[in-house]
Amino acid sequence: MRIDVLTLFPDMFASPLGFSIVKRAQDRQLVNIVLSNIRDFAKNSYKKVDDKPYGGGAGMVLMCQPVFDCIENVQKQDENPGRVILLTPGGKKFDQKLAQDFANEKRLILIAGHYEGFDERIRIGTNAEEVSIGDYVLSGGELAAMVIIDAVVRLLPGALGDDDSAACDSFSDGLLEYPHYTRPEVFRDMKVPDVLLSGNHKDIENWRKQQSLEKTKQQRPDLLK
Ligand code: ADE
Repeated sequence: MRIDVLTLFPDMFASPLGFSIVKRAQDRQLVNIVLSNIRDFAKNSYKKVDDKPYGGGAGMVLMCQPVFDCIENVQKQDENPGRVILLTPGGKKFDQKLAQDFANEKRLILIAGHYEGFDERIRIGTNAEEVSIGDYVLSGGELAAMVIIDAVVRLLPGALGDDDSAACDSFSDGLLEYPHYTRPEVFRDMKVPDVLLSGNHKDIENWRKQQSLEKTKQQRPDLLK
């Protein structure tokens, strides 16, 4: 898989891409993550990428020209034009299902905006989908792009040490995950549930299912509808 990220702050990505599962997936060449700086494509001498909104109002808007040029530059590097995604709080909400959908793609192009947002013609002209990671406003799309990369990359076959662990994750079956325990059996008078020590796989499976349901009812009743 190839993931392009178009951003004004490529340096922000060094740490989240440089550790743990996402790093290992890149080392194993399961994913190639390519960062491009939109500002490199500004044509004016001030390297300006934003301008005041037509009609007035607060904030600045990302201009068409540098973003279009940046997209076209990365698109010509690969025969697959990729699925173009604009990160914005006004997009459809990212969830585990969309993460799996993205993980099935050969190429994603994630565009992180700043300021008040993008000139609308960027969305129209590139046929981009708008995606939000939640109902809150971030200072830019970078953190949203990192969240999406992390959620998608761990779903790529071979990215996790144990291939089963993604299948049991919260949301993968529409429910939250059951609680886990490890050694010791007793810690500060808190004991591991007997069933987990029983060795009875059927009972353990039933207990976990019950716990999943209970946890979902408590924390996220909306998921049960
Ligand atoms: N940019 C600013 N806020 C955002 C959000 N919630 N999701 C995606 N991109 C964003």
